[in-house]
Amino acid sequence: MSEDRKGDHIDLAFQAQLKAAQIDPRFYYEPMLTSNDISDVDISVELLGHRFKAPLWVSSMTGGTEKARIINHNLARICKEFGFGMGLGSCRPLLEGDQAFPDFNIRPLIGDDLPLFANLGVAQIEELQQANQLDQIRVMVEKLQATGLIIHVNPMQEWLQPEGDIYRSAPIDIIKWCLDAFDFPIIVKEVGQGFGPESLKALLNLPIQALDFAANGGTNFALLEMLRSSEAHFDAFNQLANIGHDASEMVDLLNQLVQSENTTFACREIIISGGVKNFLDGYYLVQKCMLPAVYGQASGFLKYALDYEMLWQHVDKQIAGYKIASKMLRVKAG
Ligand SMILES: Cc1cc2nc3c(=O)[nH]c(=O)nc-3n(C[C@H](O)[C@H](O)[C@H](O)COP(=O)(O)O)c2cc1C
Repeated sequence: MSEDRKGDHIDLAFQAQLKAAQIDPRFYYEPMLTSNDISDVDISVELLGHRFKAPLWVSSMTGGTEKARIINHNLARICKEFGFGMGLGSCRPLLEGDQAFPDFNIRPLIGDDLPLFANLGVAQIEELQQANQLDQIRVMVEKLQATGLIIHVNPMQEWLQPEGDIYRSAPIDIIKWCLDAFDFPIIVKEVGQGFGPESLKALLNLPIQALDFAANGGTNFALLEMLRSSEAHFDAFNQLANIGHDASEMVDLLNQLVQSENTTFACREIIISGGVKNFLDGYYLVQKCMLPAVYGQASGFLKYALDYEMLWQHVDKQIAGYKIASKMLRVKAG
């Protein structure tokens, strides 16, 4: 150990005191059972019909601006480099014309071997169905060379938004129209409130490719819409931002359903997202989940996504962290 390092240890020892309450209670730490060499750790997973080299997912974020184009392109390159999949933000602008296409045209960057999903809200799908134009979605998915479509369900956000969409059909029926109309895979997600047990069960019974939690605890669009609204609107409704389920609770709800239902659900794959802060949360949630899963992040990637080098450094560390966690940590039952 160098003189400098010894000096640092003396200086930092008092700062490094943890109170007992700060010890992460989710894991057993098993230092005796393995090396700390992560070069041989395989964290790959089969999901969405593709092999992910790491169990990560870039959650949907919007296109339609110059910044969004850079962000989408950097995210696609990072997915290719590290081997995980990505959902595009709402592709609604593509239904209105080709102007925004370069923002979303990332198949050439992510390559052919990884899942890339287009994204639309239930409100736009209902509109298209009513105008007998559902086929526009198929054309859009083909043009993007996307693997399939993510449908986002965000009734709370729409309701709180002054200019928000009201849908007249139940989201579950709108999803069924798509399942009937298209033969590409479909993923369903919320946008930051998650799903309660009845909604979870209804979705798991549909032949969707995967369910993406988009749970409460991270970016919260209900809150975001209220921050954009009047003070009176905010005062009246701000407590609605706290409604929902966090990712850990949703894994528990899902596991209870998987254990209690006699039949096997038609949907067998999960993207655990919404407030997943880092690799340790991701590892915990993926390990705890009884269905095959990856963990998704939106804001976690967004923070670095304008600068490819910073994004690369961030993702490299997250994956190294996930590997060391999978070597040394075991999730406690219950
Ligand atoms: C800038 C931004 C734009 C987003 N745009 C969309 C969108 O267009 N469609 C969608 O389904 N979700 C969208 N989301 C929601 C995310 O996909 C995700 O569900 C939510 O942010 C929770 O994840 P997080 O806590 O990791 O940020 C967006 C999130 C952010 C931060």
